[in-house]
Parts: sequence; C-alpha cells; structure tokens
Amino acid sequence: MNHSTGFGLLKGKKGIIFGALDDRSIAWRTALACHREGAEFILTNAPVALRLGQLNALSEATGAEIIPCDVTSDDEVQALMQAAKDKFGKIDFILHAVGMSPNIRKNKDYKDLNYQWMQQTLDISAISLHRVLHFATEGVNVLNDGGSVVTLSYIGAQRVFSKYSDMNDAKALLESIARNWGSRVGHRGIRVNSVSQGPTLTSAGSGIKGFDGMYAYAEKLSALGNPSADDCADYCVTLFSDLTRKVTMQNLFHDGGFSASGMTQEMIDLFIKIYEND
Ligand SMILES: NC(=O)c1ccc[n+]([C@@H]2O[C@H](COP(=O)([O-])OP(=O)(O)OC[C@H]3O[C@@H](n4cnc5c(N)ncnc54)[C@H](O)[C@@H]3O)[C@@H](O)[C@H]2O)c1
Repeated sequence: MNHSTGFGLLKGKKGIIFGALDDRSIAWRTALACHREGAEFILTNAPVALRLGQLNALSEATGAEIIPCDVTSDDEVQALMQAAKDKFGKIDFILHAVGMSPNIRKNKDYKDLNYQWMQQTLDISAISLHRVLHFATEGVNVLNDGGSVVTLSYIGAQRVFSKYSDMNDAKALLESIARNWGSRVGHRGIRVNSVSQGPTLTSAGSGIKGFDGMYAYAEKLSALGNPSADDCADYCVTLFSDLTRKVTMQNLFHDGGFSASGMTQEMIDLFIKIYEND
C-alpha cells in the first residue's frame, strides 16, 4: 500500500461529509481521501449549493449518496441523521466543513456589521456544529461509540486577521463548541476536534477580500509552506482512523508551522528591501 492506493485506514467505516461544493473544497478532497482509505459515506450540502450540480461528479467517483441539508435547520439535520441511520445503522465519522459570512460576502466592515447577517454567520459556521452533534449523538443517536467528529477552523479564532471579520468570532465559538461537546461524549469514546487549516484556495477562501495577501504572508511565514486541501484531507483521515483514539477536545493546527512562527529570515530580507526602496 502507498499514498495513492491508500492504507486502508478507514476500511469498514461509515460517515457523513458536510461542505463539498466544488473540486477545490476541503470537504471534496477529504471525501476522495476517505474513499481511497476504504470508507463509505453520505455527501451533504445546502440545497442551494446542490443546485449547482457539481457534487454529482464526486458522488459518482466515490459511490456516495447525496442528501441535501441546510445546517441551520433542526429538521433538516435531524432528517439527515435519520437517513444515515436508515442507510448505515451507525456511522463512525463526521466532517463538518461548513462556513459562510454574509458580512464578508457583502463587504461589510467589522465596525459596521449587519447583526442579522452576523447571526447567520454564527449559525452557519459555528452553532451548526452543535446542532449536528446534538442530532448525531442525542436526537437520532447515529454516531457509534468510538466515533470521530472533525470541524474545520482557522487561526482567526485566536488572533486577529483583519480581513476575516466576523468569521474570527465564529471560529472562536466553533472551537469552543467542539471542546464542550468533546467533554460530554468522551465517555463513549467519541472524539471531537477542530483542525485549524492554513489559508487554502477554495471558494470560501477566495471569497475573502485580501485573501491573496493572507495566503502569500502565511506561505512566507510557514516553515513547511501552506497546506493544500489534499494535505488537510489526509490529516482528517488520520483523525477519523483508529490511530488517534485518545485525541479529543483539541484545536489542531494544520498550517505548515505558521502558528508557531514569529519572523523568518526571508521576510526580514523582504522588508529590508522594501524600506531601502522607500
Ligand atoms: N479555505 C481556507 O482558507 C480555509 C482555512 C481554514 C478553514 N477553512 C474552513 O474550511 C471549511 C470548508 O471551507 P472551504 O475552504 O473548503 O470552502 P467551500 O466554500 O468549498 O466550503 C464551504 C461549504 O459550506 C457550505 N455551506 C454554506 N452554508 C451552508 C448551509 N447553510 N448549510 C450547509 N452547508 C453550507 C457551502 O455550500 C460550501 O460547500 C469552512 O469551515 C472554512 O471556514 C477554510
């Protein structure tokens, strides 16, 4: 076995993957990696995203059924969990790769947020994880003991990234929800972690004004360079596998070392050059 054929890490495991929009999506890449590793899963996204029709190609490539679900709806999340129960009996993993800020989309400055939109940001990008965990473990109870739930976060949860606006706040809430749920389902061996991914060229990522600058800055500061969506997918596979059974309630940086970096020689040289040209 090797990386292209897979290591059979998820053989026999069943799951639900939220958030694959197009072939750049972290969830899309993760679905391919989970398929490579032997998992079966349901693909889900908001009905409006499914109308684009792109997900059919991923469904065909992985043999996964598509079930629509808007993560802000209790009824739709409950129905999705019930459908997963009807199909698989129990599931072993969930990827929550969902995020959206109407304020960012509509270019609202952080000091002048539309609060209704901010509530949407928080509901879609953070509270939805709570809702998913509620119906997966309490409501419908489709998640197996020993299961693993991964959500995707960003370092804006801990530090200020000006262009990330109210998503900074949403990610802070998201990470807190992951920790709090982790503490409540640990007795069943269920793990809940957030993966804090470096900037990645996806639809959500490139929707942020100034993203190119954030991407280039992180690329220069990270010892290993920015991680791709495929890199993230492989990391998620390890968290869904049985090799990480005692990892829970963590925010795990998957960022090429960015979060531990202060300054690099390359950047010092760059700044000196800029000042010399002033
Ligand atoms: N791209 C980056 O730089 C980056 C970095 C760190 C973390 N993340 C996070 O990774 C996750 C996945 O984002 P991505 O970068 O792959 O972009 P993406 O745009 O491909 O994925 C975001 C997904 O959220 C879905 N979504 C939005 N509203 C929804 C709703 N109401 N119900 C159900 N689904 C809904 C979208 O349809 C889309 O599929 C997000 O949480 C994002 O914040 C991204």
